[in-house]
Amino acid sequence: MDLFDDLPPHPDAAPTPIAPGAVLLHGFACDEAVALLQAVEVVLQQAPLRHLQTPGGYTMSVAMSNCGSLGWVSSVNGYRYTACDPASHRPWPAMPACLLDLAQRAAAQAGYPQFAPDACLINQYVPGAKLSLHQDKDELDLLAPIVSVSLGLPAVFLFGTSSRKDRPQRHRLVHGDVVVWGGPSRLAYHGVNALADGTHALLGQRRLNLTFRCVR
Ligand code: SIN
Ligand code: FE2
Repeated sequence: MDLFDDLPPHPDAAPTPIAPGAVLLHGFACDEAVALLQAVEVVLQQAPLRHLQTPGGYTMSVAMSNCGSLGWVSSVNGYRYTACDPASHRPWPAMPACLLDLAQRAAAQAGYPQFAPDACLINQYVPGAKLSLHQDKDELDLLAPIVSVSLGLPAVFLFGTSSRKDRPQRHRLVHGDVVVWGGPSRLAYHGVNALADGTHALLGQRRLNLTFRCVR
């Protein structure tokens, strides 16, 4: 085994195509991570992270919140997008300009210009938290891609095809990485393995993931 196998690719590494229409932009958000995290903290003061229930009655290990005109929520009644936070009955916090700007630049870099997300789901993972394989299909606009930003502890991201039967590929995502998937990969099954223990210089024992979506 090579001594350097475990090092993340340099932030300037060329994008890695992971499937048709899907690309991993290494370190794309690194330089602006502190500003992004400050903006996310302000959002989370208005709409705190919470563990949602699934329709199956299970409590998700990932804690979630949202910003933007719509937010994704799950409950025993199903999955849906709402204009208000069910916890406060107030509109979700607006999407901070620095988040929107990053998402638009990443989408353009990946070949999706004119990306106009109206929803940003904020996922927080602590060691042991995971997200089982799923498709993002509650959005009305399936022509727009999903833009997913990873901050904090590294994770193993699973990315398959639109068929649940196909075995997903594993990709290590580190702080600052951005994955964009659209076109033929828009409905690809994806998930995150249980987060390994660790401590990140900016986020401590946490991983934050931001996914930007066009819902309407
Ligand atoms: C998601 O599918 O909503 C999150 C993916 C991730 O945390 O990388
Ligand atoms: Fe997802």
